[in-house]
Amino acid sequence: MSYTVNTLRNMTRSCEMMRDRVKAVVFKPDERKVLNITFGPTAAAELVGRTPEALAKAEKEGRLAPPKQLNNGRRYYTLEDLTHIRKALNIHPGKLAHENAVVVAVQNFKGGVGKSTITKHFADFLALNGYSVLVIDCDPQASTTTMFDIQPEALIDEEETLGNFLSPRSTFDDFRKAIRETAWPTIKIVPSSLGLQDAEWDLTATLTEGGQAVREGLQRLRIGIDSIINDFDVVLLDPPPAMGFLGLNVMAAATGMLIPVPARQLDYLSTIHFMDTIAENIEILEDHGTPVDYGFIRVVCSAYTPSKPGEADMWKMMKATYANFLLNQPILASEEIKNATQAFRSIYESKPSAAHATYQRCRDNLNAVFGEVLNEIHEQWPSKSISRRSSDTAGSVAA
Ligand SMILES: Nc1ncnc2c1ncn2[C@@H]1O[C@H](COP(=O)(O)OP(=O)(O)OP(=O)(O)O)[C@@H](O)[C@H]1O
Ligand SMILES: [Mg+2]
Repeated sequence: MSYTVNTLRNMTRSCEMMRDRVKAVVFKPDERKVLNITFGPTAAAELVGRTPEALAKAEKEGRLAPPKQLNNGRRYYTLEDLTHIRKALNIHPGKLAHENAVVVAVQNFKGGVGKSTITKHFADFLALNGYSVLVIDCDPQASTTTMFDIQPEALIDEEETLGNFLSPRSTFDDFRKAIRETAWPTIKIVPSSLGLQDAEWDLTATLTEGGQAVREGLQRLRIGIDSIINDFDVVLLDPPPAMGFLGLNVMAAATGMLIPVPARQLDYLSTIHFMDTIAENIEILEDHGTPVDYGFIRVVCSAYTPSKPGEADMWKMMKATYANFLLNQPILASEEIKNATQAFRSIYESKPSAAHATYQRCRDNLNAVFGEVLNEIHEQWPSKSISRRSSDTAGSVAA
């Protein structure tokens, strides 16, 4: 074995041992499988879109079970309680049963721009607000899978994986079986597995066959998602930071796109290249019988520190160039997010790491950003679309 190979293997082994030790400490497997999130009456009422008084009245009238109580008398609700409240009071934030899930790709070929951080936080935000979510981790790096408590190494002998579903060499064709539970009752995940990289190579090999084989290779993820399209409100796709067959599958399967760009010059510049490349790739998909038509494309500034030299100017440049395609609120760079993701969690799952006010500011900021994306998602469902409803009203007034 050559010196180079030997050195790399030794480093790999050493890092793997360290990774397992870190995971043993961070994951605390016995503690983690149950989410320990509770809400006081005000927070619970806000999440279901009612006032605390309305909930108290419904409880008094027997339409709702009273909340649990701590020894000190404080009343609290769990995530499951929120689901029960919505059911009992007929509050339905999501789509109608026959409408399709909105499939959002959080896409940028640049690495480290916040794709996985946004995917995890947006999934948790949606679940808190009563939506059902399927997260599909399309990145062999598997960061998002790890944040949902699945260890990719544990899937090594599994047949029912995304990698096997996507690989044209595999006979596994029941996408539903690749879907797994998470600690969140209304979030499911198709985890990334180590075989995903092999699937990429298998898919690339179809290029030599051409024609039908290439079309099928490009549409595999879309076909899988189509088989569950009514079962979730939102499907979130976390792609790898590169444009290969996996990236093309993500682009072909998505119905909306969110492009994270931190307020940094290099990220801004590489995103110009990204947008040009996706436009080209969409033409390639269309040439191969795979039409793509996104309901929305939005850029989100994914890490912004207004006080950092140059970032305020970058934010201004982003506003000037992306105009209406840029979300109004930037995601502020925050130690809270950094610390939470270091521990494989979202801030929605973790306690404040510093002052409560700092944590709350970070949470309010994310809620505002995700609220904007949620508006775009609502627009895709006829039952929720405000613009369709107002144009219907305008039409009927004109008539
Ligand atoms: N708003 C933020 N504030 C602070 N840190 C952030 C923020 N967004 C992302 N990060 C940090 O930046 C790093 C990269 O983020 P992330 O892994 O989400 O990027 P990515 O685009 O998915 O990367 P890759 O292309 O490698 O998959 C992580 O350490 C994450 O904690
Ligand atoms: Mg990532």
